[in-house]
Order: sequence, then structure tokens, then C-alpha cells
Amino acid sequence: MTDPAESKTVKGHAKLERNITLMAVASLITVAIGGIVEIAPLFWIDNTIEKVEGVRPYTPLELAGRDIYIREGCYVCHSQMIRPFRDEVERYGHYSLAAESMYDHPFQWGSKRTGPDLARVGGRYSDEWHVQHLTDPQSVVPESVMPQYGFLKENALHVADPSANLTALSRVGVPYTDEDIANAPADLVAQANPDADAGDLTARYPKAQIRDYDGDPTRITEMDALVAYLQMLGTLVDVNSAAAQEELAQEKGR
Ligand code: HEC
Repeated sequence: MTDPAESKTVKGHAKLERNITLMAVASLITVAIGGIVEIAPLFWIDNTIEKVEGVRPYTPLELAGRDIYIREGCYVCHSQMIRPFRDEVERYGHYSLAAESMYDHPFQWGSKRTGPDLARVGGRYSDEWHVQHLTDPQSVVPESVMPQYGFLKENALHVADPSANLTALSRVGVPYTDEDIANAPADLVAQANPDADAGDLTARYPKAQIRDYDGDPTRITEMDALVAYLQMLGTLVDVNSAAAQEELAQEKGR
């Protein structure tokens, strides 16, 4: 004999399952609860990305290099996101943190790796190596299928309005100050010219690397900008510092 309470539930369920409208309404309510739990907190928190010590907006020169990276379609063959898997971490270095691409608009995570991940390529090679490799990849890696980009060394860097680029990014939340925006044209030139007075460039952009990148200090080329960008990738956060480890632990715990 079935217990009367149970048969009542079974009956209720039978009713629910046979009435398509009731079933649809009940399903909707069930799914909506899940949705609300996931979405509602987003209206009350200011930021979904925890800030990590060291992350700063790009300098005007790095930004110009990044634009060339996008223009040339480097992202078609290269990703910029190291996943937290042992093989990737052993090959490319510490896995990428969300904060490391918080000022990327659009982000360059990529979805295809014909070539290696570049998220932490900064500082791995010398500037000369990059210039040689970009000019003629096969001279460094004979079996490489990477195209040649020697023309970047011939092209003078032309950025129509560096301040406007920073202004546009500041509108979507990148914290460039009025001073950064006003100084953008001067900063762009100063970072690639070790003889120029860089002013307070490194104060406003900590860890900015100031030097001639393409081997020709007399002019600023697209090669200077692209190599400046490549050399800073993944270098801002000291992933082995105590503070970073703490943030990582928190990230893991969430
Ligand atoms: C057709 C695919 C393709 C495109 C497009 C491409 N690359 Fe590559 N890249 C590769 C391959 C394959 C390798 C590995 C062999 C080598 O080092 O040349 C590589 C290697 C590299 C490396 C060395 C990475 C390392 O850790 O050893 C850098 C840096 C690099 N590419 C930068 C760029 C940049 C910058 C661009 C755009 C201007 C670009 N690549 C465009 C395929 C590509």
C-alpha cells in the first residue's frame, strides 16, 4: 500500500506533467531562479575583475604596437592566454590572470595557436631577436610558417592622434588621466628614443621600457612600436610576489 502523502505528490506531479502550460510556467520559474542567482549580484558589485598589483594601461607606444599587432592579424596565429594546465604553464609560464587583460579593448586572447602563445613573451628574447625574427622568421626558425614583416622596419610610425586614442579608451573605462592624454604625443616619441627627455613617463607608466627597439635610433618605425608591445607582454605583474600569490589564492578560493 502506498503512503497517502506520497500518492498526493505523485498525483500533483502527474497533473504538472500532463498540463503543458503549467509545465512551461513551472519550468520558467525554476530556470529564472537560477538566472537571478547568477545575474543579480552583478548589479551590486562594481567590478568583476579583481585588480592585481602592477597592471597598468598601455603606454602610447605600446598601444601603437598593439594596433599594428591587430592590423597585421597576428592574433590569427597567436593566442594571448595561458590556460591553467600543467603543459601550458611549463611551456609559457604562469597562467594568465583576468586582470592582465582588463585594459585590452578588444582583448587578444585569440582562439588559434598556429604559433606559440604570446601572453608572457615579454623579455624572453632580445629586441634584436624580435627584429630578426619578424623580418625573416625562417632565418631563426627554419621550419616556421610565420609570414615576413620586414616592411615594419621601413614604415615610419604614424599615429594620427595619440591623445584621441587614449581618450577613446578612457571612455570605456581605462583609467588614463588628463595628464596621460595631454602627454600622449610626447610620450609616444620619448619611449623609443633613449636620448629624449622622457619626463615622468615611468612614474605614470611603471615598468615602461625606454629604449630604441629596432636598431635604428634615428627614426621611430612601426617595428619600434610592435617590439615595444611584445617586450611588455606579461611583464607587469610579478606573478611570484607574495601579493600576487595571495590574490591567486583568493581567486582559487572563489
Ligand atoms: C601564419 C601564422 C602566423 C602569423 C600570422 C604570425 N605568426 Fe608569429 N609565429 C608563427 C609560428 C608558426 C611561430 C613559431 C615558429 C617561429 O618562431 O617562427 C611563431 C612565432 C612567433 C614568435 C616567437 C614566440 C616564441 O615564444 O618563441 C613571436 C614573438 C611572434 N611569432 C610574433 C608574431 C607577430 C608580432 C605577428 C604579427 C606581426 C605574428 N607573429 C604573426 C605563426 C604566425
